Amino acid sequence: MTALDSLTSDLIAAVDAAADMTALEEARVAALGKKGRITALMGDMRTLSPEERKERGAQLNAVKEAVSQAIEARRSVLKQEALARRLEAERIDVTLPVRPEAQGRVHPITQTVEEVIAIFATMGFTVAEGPDIETDFHNFTALNIPPEHPARQMHDTFYLPPAADGAARVLRTHTSPVQIRTMLKQKPPIRIIAPGRTYRSDYDQTHTPMFHQVEALVIGEDIHMGHLKGTLLEFCRAFFQIDDLPVRFRPSFFPFTEPSAEIDIGCARKGGELKLGNFGDWLEIGGSGMVHPKVLENCGIDSTKYQGFAFGMGIERMAMLKYGIPDLRTFFEADLRWLKHYGFVPLDQPNLAQGLTR
Ligand code: DAH
Repeated sequence: MTALDSLTSDLIAAVDAAADMTALEEARVAALGKKGRITALMGDMRTLSPEERKERGAQLNAVKEAVSQAIEARRSVLKQEALARRLEAERIDVTLPVRPEAQGRVHPITQTVEEVIAIFATMGFTVAEGPDIETDFHNFTALNIPPEHPARQMHDTFYLPPAADGAARVLRTHTSPVQIRTMLKQKPPIRIIAPGRTYRSDYDQTHTPMFHQVEALVIGEDIHMGHLKGTLLEFCRAFFQIDDLPVRFRPSFFPFTEPSAEIDIGCARKGGELKLGNFGDWLEIGGSGMVHPKVLENCGIDSTKYQGFAFGMGIERMAMLKYGIPDLRTFFEADLRWLKHYGFVPLDQPNLAQGLTR
């Protein structure tokens, strides 16, 4: 065996012994790198005669070729082994039973608010918002309820310490202040609804200190009571899914509307049972009216040019009527058994996309 043969078998043995890619790279550098064994022998050819150099060159090239091939072969073996190890490590057992995961429910209030939004959206309303902590100005004064007005007593207001700038603050007693906020920042025409939380210091079978309302406000140059009535009739029939549900306006008083009317829907009461429909009896679901000129002026809107309507309805009452939930207080007791019974399965809400297309 020549010296070159034994060098070749040494280099190939080192390649074959490489246990991983790093070791293989080291073996390659030792043979073919800048300071590798073969590279050094190539350099030595400088001292040879042209004929000797030709022969020696051919021999060294053959060695280089043999070592390179060994490296490639080893590389593919190592790759194969790595893949096999990974497949083994990442193996999953598809026959294992799944881990049970509790599925939550959509609260009836959330569901009802989303249905209300979906229906008004088909009528071109957008959703407006305001803060739960309101200034006395937005909640009362701008709505034509001055400090000494008796209407303030009816609201059982939660008063808060004044803001840094001295402004008196309350937890909003209704969603009507969103009317003010909207008119202060948006020029007519306006067509919004504002669903949200409201607060009054009251607790009994039909009152909770926190509850929900949805407000509506439409302002334009020729908005009249017919629009108010048509909008509410369409909405109530779509929401309760009763084609001939009667909607009645009963004269009333609110400081921020003139004229004002309470909204009643048709029902029947028999032996503690309540049924919605055209049965001759009536149930109140909210208040409404034509926006008072003073309220428009308080928001910088010319009341000789613009007029509009507004209404506010109680979300809990609507949810109770639609889904047959008998007790208001249960909405906020966070009882999972109740939620499982009255709640809605997420992404499975047939009423949602329906809107006006009954
Ligand atoms: N804010 C009134 C309340 O909470 C309800 C209401 C009545 C809202 C008439 C209105 C309206 O927008 O026009 O009792």
